Amino acid sequence: MTAALELRDVRKNFGRTEIIRGVDLNIAPGERHALIGPNGAGKSTTFNLISGRMAPSSGTVKLNGVEIGGLPPYKINRMGLSRSFQVTNIFHRLSVFENLRCSVLWSLGYRYSFWHRLEQLRDARERAEEVLELIGLQGRHDTLAGLLTYAEQRALEIGITIAGGAEVILLDEPTAGMSRSESDHAVELIRRVTVGKTLVMVEHDMSVVFGLADRISVLVYGEVIATDTPQAIRNNRRVKEAYLGTTLDEPAGAH
Ligand SMILES: Nc1ncnc2c1ncn2[C@@H]1O[C@H](COP(=O)(O)OP(=O)(O)OP(=O)(O)O)[C@@H](O)[C@H]1O
Ligand SMILES: [Mg+2]
Repeated sequence: MTAALELRDVRKNFGRTEIIRGVDLNIAPGERHALIGPNGAGKSTTFNLISGRMAPSSGTVKLNGVEIGGLPPYKINRMGLSRSFQVTNIFHRLSVFENLRCSVLWSLGYRYSFWHRLEQLRDARERAEEVLELIGLQGRHDTLAGLLTYAEQRALEIGITIAGGAEVILLDEPTAGMSRSESDHAVELIRRVTVGKTLVMVEHDMSVVFGLADRISVLVYGEVIATDTPQAIRNNRRVKEAYLGTTLDEPAGAH
C-alpha cells in the first residue's frame, strides 16, 4: 500500500546547523500519527518541510507516492495536504463563518480569480456551514473570530484546516494552552473531523497523544529515535532517556 506520507532521509540546515538530521517517516492512509519530542527537537520544522513552507536541504517527501519536497505550500495543499499552525492563524476581524468560507474558497483557487461563479460560491457556503456544524460552532456563525474564547479559536483553526477537504491533515499542538476539559473536548473534535483521513499531530500533552494516536514517532535533536505503538513507546528505553525527569503518562504539559 502506498504511504499517505513518506519522508526518506530528510535533512534541513539553517546556515551551518543541521536541524533535521535524516528523518524517515512512513504514515499509512487513515493512520493517526503523533510526533512528539522535547522543545526545539524540530517538530514544527518537520511540518514546515512537509507542508512546503520550507524546502528540505536533501531527502524526499512524498504525498500518496508523489514527490512534494520543495513545492510551494499552495500546490501541496491542492494535492490534498493541509496544516494548522502552532500559533493560531485565523482572521480576527472576519466572522467565524467568513473564516471558514475563505478557507474553502482558497482551497478552490479563488485567490486568483475575480469573477466568481455563483454556484461555486454557493458550494463554498454550504461547505462552510457543514464545517461550522462539525466543529460545533453553529451558535457562533456571525461572531468575529477575534471575540471567540481561546478554545473556540483553536476549534475554528481546526475547521479552517479541514475545510478544503484535504485527506492528510497536519495539526501543530492543537491543544496547547487548553485546560484539561477543553483538551478532552478538542480530542473528540479532532477524532470527529479526521474520520477516514490521515492525521499527523505534534502534541506535548501525553494524554492527548495516547488518546488519539495509532502510532507515535519521537523526534530528538532532529532525529526520529523511535516509531511505534503508544504502548511500545511508553516502554522504550531510549524514549524514556530522552524524556528524563518527566514521565510519559503524565497527563498534561509533559514538556
Ligand atoms: N527559520 C529558522 N532559522 C534558524 N533556526 C531555526 C528556524 N526555525 C527553527 N529553527 C531552530 O530549529 C530548531 C527546531 O525548531 P522547531 O520549531 O522545529 O522545534 P519544535 O520541536 O517545534 O519545538 P517546540 O516544541 O518548542 O515547538 C530550534 O533550535 C529552532 O531554534
Ligand atoms: Mg513547534
